[in-house]
Amino acid sequence: MRYILLILGLAVASVMIVAGKRGDMSRKPPIEMWDDMDRQYKLRPQTSANLSPDGRSSRLPVEGTIARGQRFADVPENTGRKPGTTNYVDTIPVAVTPALIERGQERFNINCSPCHGKTGDGNGITKKIGAMPIVATLHDPRIVGLVDGEIFGVISYGKGLMSGYAANVPVEDRWAIVAYVRALQLARLGTADDVPAEHKADLLKK
Ligand code: HEC
Repeated sequence: MRYILLILGLAVASVMIVAGKRGDMSRKPPIEMWDDMDRQYKLRPQTSANLSPDGRSSRLPVEGTIARGQRFADVPENTGRKPGTTNYVDTIPVAVTPALIERGQERFNINCSPCHGKTGDGNGITKKIGAMPIVATLHDPRIVGLVDGEIFGVISYGKGLMSGYAANVPVEDRWAIVAYVRALQLARLGTADDVPAEHKADLLKK
């Protein structure tokens, strides 16, 4: 009996020497059959790293990314405003191409048409089902008269009953949508005089 107790005691002691007390805090990895991706090749913040040119693990933001809390560069493409002011830019600050307008059509139909309707007249599905009874028609002369930057601002931050869509619509797509909203407005407000002379005859064709 004494020997059995002795062997048991030794066994417990040797396990504890090797494995440590349960619940101990340790930076060292525990004994494990297979590594459940517990340890990874990553750098802890604010430590030194031989890998990087200046020996710091904390890197400047990777190109094309933005650190949390960091402000966007103050350029009209990002803000819709004239740099250093709160005034909205008058015209879209990116090149308006057929591809941009097409992208805008797609994004408008996804993000805006549920409320504003496919033509922008404010008769989307949300009005029919009574979820959003009053939706602005984008053909309202006041809204037609808004500068491009302000429409960008409405998409970004919302206005009145409409909430902002910054989380859903990336900056480039917001300009695409602005371009498409302008196309919708022109389609509604245009007159025969806007048709180029060489295409006037097409109007009379059936
Ligand atoms: C959930 C419904 C909803 C969606 C989706 C929506 N809007 Fe609106 N929008 C509204 C409502 C409601 C108003 C009227 C707000 C008010 O006057 O209180 C409005 C107003 C506007 C105005 C006029 C702002 C002004 O100066 O009065 C513009 C421009 C506009 N929306 C553009 C858009 C665009 C572009 C999208 C797509 C990115 C969009 N909206 C998506 C509901 C919506």
